[in-house]
Amino acid sequence: MQFSMKPIYLDNAATTPLDPEVLNAMLPYLTEHFGNASSIYSLGRECRMAIEKARKSVAAIFNTSPGEIFFTSCGTESSNTAIHGAVRDLGCRHIISSPIEHHATLHTVEYLAAIGACRLSFVNLTQDGHIDMIDLERLLKESGEKSLVTLMHANNEIGNLLDVDYVAQLCQTYDAIFHTDAVQSIAHYSIDLQKAPIHFMSGSAHKFYGPKGSGILYVNRNVQIKPFINGGSQERQMRAGTENVAGIVGFSKALELATATLEADSIYIESLKSYMREQLSAQLSDVRFNGAQDERSLYTVLSVSLPANERSEMLSMNLDIAGICVSGGSACTSGAQGGSHVIKAVYPHEHRVTIRFSFSKHNTFDEVDQVVKKVAELL
Ligand SMILES: Cc1ncc(COP(=O)(O)O)c(C=O)c1O
Repeated sequence: MQFSMKPIYLDNAATTPLDPEVLNAMLPYLTEHFGNASSIYSLGRECRMAIEKARKSVAAIFNTSPGEIFFTSCGTESSNTAIHGAVRDLGCRHIISSPIEHHATLHTVEYLAAIGACRLSFVNLTQDGHIDMIDLERLLKESGEKSLVTLMHANNEIGNLLDVDYVAQLCQTYDAIFHTDAVQSIAHYSIDLQKAPIHFMSGSAHKFYGPKGSGILYVNRNVQIKPFINGGSQERQMRAGTENVAGIVGFSKALELATATLEADSIYIESLKSYMREQLSAQLSDVRFNGAQDERSLYTVLSVSLPANERSEMLSMNLDIAGICVSGGSACTSGAQGGSHVIKAVYPHEHRVTIRFSFSKHNTFDEVDQVVKKVAELL
């Protein structure tokens, strides 16, 4: 067989493998340090100390204060907390979002609009899937109600990056609350929360070699919301539930490690992406790339658009059989239901097949060569 038994993993926007160093940092909190962080004896106190140490480290990396960092169970919970809180506690009666948000945001804002808690507007997109800033400003200007803007920093499907600083300034001008889902960008880009007046930011450890089930929500000190999950007084009364100490330690360790090598890793991963784009363009006919193809695109994501036919529609399945993990789907080909809401929103009139390749520091040029060869063969 052409491929070794180990799969080639090019789906790092879905999740990344746990870094062994992160696992080592977590293990003591799954074994001997098993205490409940709320217990007052030493077994509990050492867990409390580990959580607070992690919070300090995470806050320092985002240039913010520990009091503004809350640990959650995942990015989805973080976004739900921020969006529900903005509507319930901050008087936001109008949500401005986009049709290409992750479902963690999209389904939350749609739910709130459906129960009549707020009005919902979707901002227009530009041709290559960026937020149309002129339309965003128009929506804010004409809102007439306190608005929540919730827009993702980096799109998980097409990779487009939002100019967060610009949106934050716009929100400040129009006295709007701003939440950004930074699940795909945290630890891949350096984020300085002193620079941009963001109110809420969601993150998730499993996108940067940390554990699954461990997220953060940044809440700016100038906004006060009530908990999304009610119960005990954990996370300074903001997020009830016995803390996932190992997950929290894993989050901070993964963030520390990824931050330390961010520059070198990003240059390397970007070169893998460019190489794959070049090779696919050279070896396939009628190949296109979804989303922005310049520096306003996540360097980890390459979304490839292929003409729809039987072979392209079977591609991700056949790549799986060949031991290659990618994300794929058809954007409503031949009138069939389903497909990606992101691709449909950006390319409503195209009936093509999308395959998303997403890279990590562990991928190699040789793997890219093998995958491109297999793709060309299968098509
Ligand atoms: C952009 C984006 N937002 C939110 C999420 C949800 O994060 P989690 O899996 O931690 O709930 C994901 C993960 O797939 C994502 O890519």
